[in-house]
Amino acid sequence: MIALGCDHGGYELKKEVIKYLEEKQIPYKDFGCDSTDSVDYPVYAKKVANAIVSGECEKGILICGTGIGISIAANKIKGIRAALCHDVFSAEATRLHNNANVLAMGGRVVGPGLAIKIVETFLETEFSNDERHIRRITQIEE
Ligand code: RB5
Repeated sequence: MIALGCDHGGYELKKEVIKYLEEKQIPYKDFGCDSTDSVDYPVYAKKVANAIVSGECEKGILICGTGIGISIAANKIKGIRAALCHDVFSAEATRLHNNANVLAMGGRVVGPGLAIKIVETFLETEFSNDERHIRRITQIEE
């Protein structure tokens, strides 16, 4: 199950992500927001982060205007490794190396075509399980 969250700056791009997930029949849970009315991104970052930490959802996708605020907020929650990615290389690398469990993007930064390639790469790339990457991720948690 993929947890989705956004603020008003990410709402339109989140709709594109939902379209993609539905086409691919990938289960998701949308934690809001539900319009382009101004809201506070930490609220949605926390909802998605908590769904992952509790085990309700396996990964998350968070979108605000830049992706910056919402990723900073999500990374405050222990156990969350949120990666802000605006290119496919980073989306692949953060799964392989960081075992990132949240993808953050900026709805005012990337267009839907690139964003969907980033989502696809993030969701399809497995963690490498390399000893050195496990060691480094463990050090983040300490
Ligand atoms: C909202 O205007 C904007 O500040 C927010 O979407 C995000 O870009 C913050 O980092």
